[in-house]
Amino acid sequence: MRFNFLAVLFAVFALLLSMTTVGSAQSKPNIVILATGGTIAGSAADASATTGYKAGALGIDVLLNAVPQVKEYANVSGEQICSIDSKDMTDDIWLKLADRINDLFSRGDVDGIVITHGTDTLEETAYFLNLTVHSNKPVVLVGAMRPATAISADGPMNLLNAVRVAASPASVGKGVLVALNDEINAAREVTKTNTITVSTFKSPELGFLGYVNEGVPEFYRTSARRHTINSEFNVNGKKNLPYVKVIYGTANDDELFVDAAIKAGVKGIIYAGTGNGSVHMNAEKALARATAKGIVVVRSSRVGNGTVIPAEQSYIDYHFLDGDTLSPQKARILLQLALTKTTDLSEIQRMFKQY
Ligand code: SIN
Repeated sequence: MRFNFLAVLFAVFALLLSMTTVGSAQSKPNIVILATGGTIAGSAADASATTGYKAGALGIDVLLNAVPQVKEYANVSGEQICSIDSKDMTDDIWLKLADRINDLFSRGDVDGIVITHGTDTLEETAYFLNLTVHSNKPVVLVGAMRPATAISADGPMNLLNAVRVAASPASVGKGVLVALNDEINAAREVTKTNTITVSTFKSPELGFLGYVNEGVPEFYRTSARRHTINSEFNVNGKKNLPYVKVIYGTANDDELFVDAAIKAGVKGIIYAGTGNGSVHMNAEKALARATAKGIVVVRSSRVGNGTVIPAEQSYIDYHFLDGDTLSPQKARILLQLALTKTTDLSEIQRMFKQY
């Protein structure tokens, strides 16, 4: 009898203990870290080296072991998607990432995603996912300017902050976010502005969304353009994307690159023009030949700020579209996605006004 009473008491105690443990694990959000490489996973021979290292050398386990504090904010698991220097990013990896993220969110038990990424094309991946992930749960891209082996590496704190942002209810519905250097930016507006310094990611003119203050994400604004659950683009199961090239306008421009692009079979051209997306008269002749063949031409600008709006009558006559405020590299992504749905020019122009 006495034995039975003790056994029951022990069982009740064990049950209560397990409920407390499960309860605390459940009260933290489940965050999956998808690792792609970059300087945040970079390894140099010398701790003072900030160049000449191998980007993407360290796996996600090494990065997570360096920042055990992430466990205070979330139940974290890691997956290695690829291990590249992000200058070598491909449409294939983007499609794989979008598929994986949509798949993880469809499971229901994943509350947020962090993607570790090289800084060179981080803004492009962020914008691609902003248009192709169909969930309002947080997706946060993070990188670093100094390799993981450097004195005062920026990666560990950036990774911790990215997990904090992904775990925060305040990040829900904000679209894909980019969190580095204690600042949170929107995928559509953010760009790398400095080749070397850690304060490189900015959203010029339109401004960043918020800070991570002492570990707490604080938002002050949102991006007004369509994204994630309001995006009409769906790449699930797609194996490739339409071929779109950016051509950079300069003084003394000519027809060479446009003609080469036409010959190569591109479906779209982003012309990174001068000023308000202005097109050199020589390139204009070649771009007119492109639109006559059904290639979609979008005028963007190499200036870095401001809206590209309708200008010369000839641009209208040749059916060149306007790229709004998107940088040439992001206009390329939107045109790729637009071309997965339509070649109708007024529809594509609508998309440039909405995304
Ligand atoms: C890269 O983009 O993979 C290398 C540069 C960086 O991450 O800062």
